[in-house]
Amino acid sequence: MKMGHGSNPQPLRSEIGTSRPAMAKVGMARLAVTPQVTVSSPFRLWARINASGTAMMLAATTTAAERTTVSHSEVRMPPSPVQYSALNYKDALAAQGHPGVALALPLVPGIDAVGKVIESGNPLVSVGHEVIVSGADFGTRSWGGWATRAQVPAAWCIPIPSGLSGRETAILGTAGFTAAQSVEYLQRHGVAPDDGPVVVTGATGGVGIFAVRLLSKFGYHAVAVTGKPQRAEWLREHGASEVLSREDVDDPSGRPLLSAKWAGGIDTVGGNPLATVLRTTRPGGCVTACGLVAGHELSLTVYPFILRGVCLQGIDSANASREYRIRLWEKLGSEFKLDDIESLATETGLSDIEESVQQILQGKIAGRTLVDVRR
Ligand SMILES: NC(=O)c1ccc[n+]([C@@H]2O[C@H](COP(=O)([O-])OP(=O)(O)OC[C@H]3O[C@@H](n4cnc5c(N)ncnc54)[C@H](OP(=O)(O)O)[C@@H]3O)[C@@H](O)[C@H]2O)c1
Repeated sequence: MKMGHGSNPQPLRSEIGTSRPAMAKVGMARLAVTPQVTVSSPFRLWARINASGTAMMLAATTTAAERTTVSHSEVRMPPSPVQYSALNYKDALAAQGHPGVALALPLVPGIDAVGKVIESGNPLVSVGHEVIVSGADFGTRSWGGWATRAQVPAAWCIPIPSGLSGRETAILGTAGFTAAQSVEYLQRHGVAPDDGPVVVTGATGGVGIFAVRLLSKFGYHAVAVTGKPQRAEWLREHGASEVLSREDVDDPSGRPLLSAKWAGGIDTVGGNPLATVLRTTRPGGCVTACGLVAGHELSLTVYPFILRGVCLQGIDSANASREYRIRLWEKLGSEFKLDDIESLATETGLSDIEESVQQILQGKIAGRTLVDVRR
């Protein structure tokens, strides 16, 4: 549902909440209010309004005529057949206007984007270079990748690694980067394949499946935990040595320590599953934590830490430095390079993204969802 008129270089006043047919597609019917939003940008807007009546852009497009002056620190990516965004769990939260993720409204979600630079006022990035933008404020405070163009600080642009195509880089995106961070932390902590099994929660999710693939590549016994029993075979095909149900790693007893099983863990869900993994990790083991789909609270005692020396390593991909990003992306294209990355991708367009958002929020998606911003 395109709102407003994109060729108008003046601040645009869009009426959101009229009875255009496409609105029903994004759940507008339940709204009682007809608010307006004033947008001082040259973007055409796609909008949805959440239950509280907050206007939020789901996507934006521009035309060449709408380009504004590029400041010294910014670069632009063009509407290009090689530009991709993706659907991360965080994007789904942003699309819901989650106050912890959508830090400024209105917002174009999309924490990942891949494209070619068409303008740059900064020597860090050259016109024509293919780059990935992810992390920092992209898609949370600043407008993100669910658009045909993005205008971002040059420091946010990371060159596509030499060993990967732009499309492969987009499929990996924040999920692949976070999985690589997690595996690298376990390696640095000294967790070796011979030490015992490494458990991965939320294993069919974006971070989870790349973690399973990477652990398998390096010879670890990867134990995939999933709420999708129908995906057990798929997980094995992607390198899981064992598949467990969510209930197997969600101990309700509250006992401070449980039988020690894991040499390490990559937790993508938080909450009691993370607490359970920590209580079942072997002495000297390490567990990484990046997610919260099962809960943001962590209820446990200090015993895993003081009686078993377990290490809990937090993962924060969004605030990784530019140097760190360049190094890890290069690694994802070389030492950490996975075969057949394409097999993990499905695609959606902006026109049907609402359905995919609901699916990822309900934990129904397996693998990675690329967003084709041209449809
Ligand atoms: N800290 C960081 O830098 C960082 C970076 C990237 C992602 N994250 C976070 O990591 C998490 C995973 O991200 P993602 O993009 O991989 O998400 P995703 O693709 O939606 O994967 C999440 C997976 O978690 C499992 N799951 C869903 N609901 C669950 C529930 N209620 N209880 C237990 N498991 C559940 C599902 O896998 P199964 O059906 O296989 O169990 C789901 O596929 C999210 O919380 C995200 O915000 C953090």
